[in-house]
Amino acid sequence: MDAKLIILFLSNMSHPEYRPPGENDVRSPCPALNCLANHGFLPRSGKDFSMSELIEALNKGFNTSRAFASVQTLGAFTMYGKLFQKMSLSDLQRHGILEHDASLSRQDAAIGDHVNVDKTLVDLLLTYKVGEKINIESLAKLHHVRYTDSKERNKDFYYGWRQQSLSFGESSLLLCVIGGATNKEVDAKVAEIFFKEERLADEWKSSETPIGLFEILNYQKEIEKKAEEVRPK
Ligand code: HEM
Repeated sequence: MDAKLIILFLSNMSHPEYRPPGENDVRSPCPALNCLANHGFLPRSGKDFSMSELIEALNKGFNTSRAFASVQTLGAFTMYGKLFQKMSLSDLQRHGILEHDASLSRQDAAIGDHVNVDKTLVDLLLTYKVGEKINIESLAKLHHVRYTDSKERNKDFYYGWRQQSLSFGESSLLLCVIGGATNKEVDAKVAEIFFKEERLADEWKSSETPIGLFEILNYQKEIEKKAEEVRPK
């Protein structure tokens, strides 16, 4: 085998095997959790995982600290009434708990498919790249565009303080976790693969240091500040 082939072989081995969901598998509106299921960190069926399985998956797949993974998991299992029971990715489809309007990559529940990716929205996201990266400025600007678009088209549009805070939190997760090894910027190609295929790109690496809750919250504040700066007049 020549050197190029060996490198290709090794680089393809960097993540557990990717398999898109089959007919009876379920998925959520969260691209990251779907990605964990598609790579086998969570059950590939997307069904019946325990709190400890989710903590393990977040820690192993994304190198979020065990403490942070536990906070997220405890919060989610409590919110969906599943504390110490098993949960499925389809539970997260319920509108109005974590799932909200004006998402980056999904349509609003009242006007379309709020669970599966809308690839045209991902293409829109990619038009906000800076150089070849999705960064804080990209997401701050896109926030206003998605908000205005949903407000115009969705007669049931609801976006209060909590939904706004969730949105900015998800953007912070995207930049801190998926952009972990590249200083809070996500390579445009990596972002496209992450959203459209819910797959970890071969070249993607998780952060070398575990990502904690305060890093996410602090960066969320930075994104909110940037969104204020770029708010259209
Ligand atoms: C630490 C890893 C995680 C990352 C990197 C992440 C990333 C994201 C991103 C970027 C979005 C926005 C998608 C969009 O706007 O189209 C999102 C949405 C969502 N996430 Fe996650 N997430 C993580 C963990 C979790 C956990 C632990 C839960 C709950 C168990 C969760 C539940 C959701 C839900 C329900 C949505 C849909 C919100 C919406 O309506 O847009 N996520 N996540």
